[in-house]
Amino acid sequence: MLVSVKKLSHSFGSHWVLKNISFQVRERECVILTGHSGAGKTTLLQILHGAQPIQRGVAEVAGYHLNKLTQRRLPLLRRQLGVVFQDFKILPQKSVGENVGMALEVRRMPRAQIKRRVNAVLRGVQMEQRADLKCARLSGGEQQRVAIARAIVVNPKILMADEPTGNLDETLSLRLVQIFKKFNEHGTTVILATHNKQVIQELPHSQLIDLSTHD
Ligand SMILES: Nc1ncnc2c1ncn2[C@@H]1O[C@H](COP(=O)(O)OP(=O)(O)OP(=O)(O)O)[C@@H](O)[C@H]1O
Ligand SMILES: [Mg+2]
Repeated sequence: MLVSVKKLSHSFGSHWVLKNISFQVRERECVILTGHSGAGKTTLLQILHGAQPIQRGVAEVAGYHLNKLTQRRLPLLRRQLGVVFQDFKILPQKSVGENVGMALEVRRMPRAQIKRRVNAVLRGVQMEQRADLKCARLSGGEQQRVAIARAIVVNPKILMADEPTGNLDETLSLRLVQIFKKFNEHGTTVILATHNKQVIQELPHSQLIDLSTHD
């Protein structure tokens, strides 16, 4: 199993957001986390990429036991993941190309190769014309596409995307779902949080995990 979650519960103060969640994700699977606003989709994804500690239960992601994972070893897990944050977390003072290329620079990829990869990914999200623009100047939907490009450029083992089409119109949402689909078909495991019904319909072979129905 690439991801295994057993009896996971999480609270903020006295407010229990996740209650006794269990599920497993096989390699190459596509998983959709759904549920109403506030159901805990973002919280669950944060736990899975090590941004929230485990309070109760057990979780393992890409061979790493999250309960035992130290801050020092967290980057090893992160290297396996591409994460699209709900609030993007792109650097506004850097250009589109710089934001997307950063993760490859950290991995010490040669500059020419970085440029090629970044351009290819930006073409995929229809942002190649904006490569040199500062991110601060982009619209919400454009920033979201940069966030998606940054997550997929590293060719992650697991792609985690939190409401990745929240700021996009219907046509662009469907186009981006096709990109996720293609990655999935090429072997990337995808974990997507969304309440967009159309996105869910476009991914009919997915494991649906509805966090509203757990108690
Ligand atoms: N750091 C925090 N401190 C206190 N409460 C929090 C914190 N983070 C999240 N919560 C609460 O936990 C609940 C779940 O939040 P979460 O962001 O996981 O929901 P979500 O399913 O992603 O919602 P949305 O669809 O609106 O993105 C919410 O009620 C939220 O207010
Ligand atoms: Mg959320």
